[in-house]
Amino acid sequence: MKRLALLGAGGHGKVVADAALASGWDAVDFFDDAWPQRQQNGPWPITGGVSALLERRQEFQGVIVAIGDGAARLEKHRTLQAAGAPLTTVVHPAAVVSRYAVLGVGTVVMAGAVVNIDAVVGQAGIINTGATVDHDCRLGDAVHICPGAHLSGHVQIGHGSWIGVGAAVKQGMVIGERVMVGVGAVVVQNVPDGLIVVGNPAAPLGASKS
Ligand SMILES: CC(C)(COP(=O)(O)OP(=O)(O)OC[C@H]1O[C@@H](n2cnc3c(N)ncnc32)[C@H](O)[C@@H]1OP(=O)(O)O)[C@@H](O)C(=O)NCCC(=O)NCCS
Repeated sequence: MKRLALLGAGGHGKVVADAALASGWDAVDFFDDAWPQRQQNGPWPITGGVSALLERRQEFQGVIVAIGDGAARLEKHRTLQAAGAPLTTVVHPAAVVSRYAVLGVGTVVMAGAVVNIDAVVGQAGIINTGATVDHDCRLGDAVHICPGAHLSGHVQIGHGSWIGVGAAVKQGMVIGERVMVGVGAVVVQNVPDGLIVVGNPAAPLGASKS
């Protein structure tokens, strides 16, 4: 019996749990520090907070942090890593990940997503529903490629950046750390650290909060 523990019982957590069960895990258990105020996440009970997960980690063959916020996800990922939890990846069976791509531990790849040859995705990443990461891309830790966003080949993205729903990034672009690319943006120039960019062509809207 393969049991997966998920830390983070929100909407993103439900999608990760669903993908995990579709990809060969037999059971999932949710943990969230909102317990005991929150007891349920969709069809699954929440059974405790992060300390309960650490105490019970021997019961699980895999553990993953399923928090949408990148900074919080990476922090909890590092905590579990330091505690020796068996961190894992989840790849939905309807995703296509090249055998020549590398996924860092703690990364999830959702249904309909594609990660092509020689792409390298860091730890605790999210390649969300229908997103594509083309050949030779380099993604740092806790990068989120949102649903339907597309990275052309040789794109580099720094730690903690977020590419919004339906955005497109031209080949070879270098996007810094903690960048937020808005919904539907078209990135045709490099983006420095810590900026929000929107529109076509993508232009700065301000500084990102995280
Ligand atoms: C870019 C983004 C982070 C900006 O959020 P924000 O700082 O709260 O900005 P606001 O919503 O206050 O909007 C500020 C201005 O930018 C405009 N704007 C916001 N997002 C925009 C976008 N994606 N494209 C074009 N213009 C945008 C707003 O219309 C507004 O214009 P105005 O000042 O003329 O009224 C956000 O709109 C966004 O696109 N987030 C990505 C969401 C996403 O992909 N979620 C996926 C979850 S899986």
